[in-house]
Amino acid sequence: MLLIEKTLPGDARQINKLESECYQSEDVFSVSRLRYLFSSECTVSFKICDENGTILGNVIGLIRRFSIPSGRIYKITVSHQIAGQGWATKLLKATEKCFAELGMKKCCAEVRVSNTPSRKLFEKNNYTEYGKLEKYYPNSETAIKFWKQLLVV
Ligand SMILES: CC(C)(COP(=O)(O)OP(=O)(O)OC[C@H]1O[C@@H](n2cnc3c(N)ncnc32)[C@H](O)[C@@H]1OP(=O)(O)O)[C@@H](O)C(=O)NCCC(=O)NCCS
Repeated sequence: MLLIEKTLPGDARQINKLESECYQSEDVFSVSRLRYLFSSECTVSFKICDENGTILGNVIGLIRRFSIPSGRIYKITVSHQIAGQGWATKLLKATEKCFAELGMKKCCAEVRVSNTPSRKLFEKNNYTEYGKLEKYYPNSETAIKFWKQLLVV
């Protein structure tokens, strides 16, 4: 059985390994960067884990207290082993709920133009495309910016 739980700083090593299996190397966060993110009060993060504690998915969200407080989906990763079963959608919904409870009004994400699964994930979850960020990534790839209004809780 798989569970969604809050991510802890001690999960950084496993999540770095998961990322190594799911991203090209330039997009993999180091263990120290992940540990820093999972320790930060500005981070909302959930993991998918099995009964042995093996991590099969993770979402990293950032809280940004701008004039209009907004959350950002920084990264969402699901292992190939459980792909296509709705787990990314569950991670996204858990993060959006937490953002709304923390007073965030909106949620955004940036996605590589070439990343069709991720673009479809956000579109399916009612995110709207709000333009492109040219040469956003280190390899000069363009990002698509998505926004969604969060429900007030
Ligand atoms: C993108 C990713 C998180 C999707 O995870 P997932 O658990 O398979 O997604 P879900 O099962 O919740 O799928 C939700 C929707 O996303 C879209 N989707 C997911 N995988 C897809 C694929 N391989 N091709 C096309 N669309 C896809 C579909 O619209 C799907 O809805 P549907 O099944 O009703 O058609 C996963 O493929 C992944 O980790 N990719 C590598 C890391 C990455 O690129 N992350 C995003 C950038 S931060």
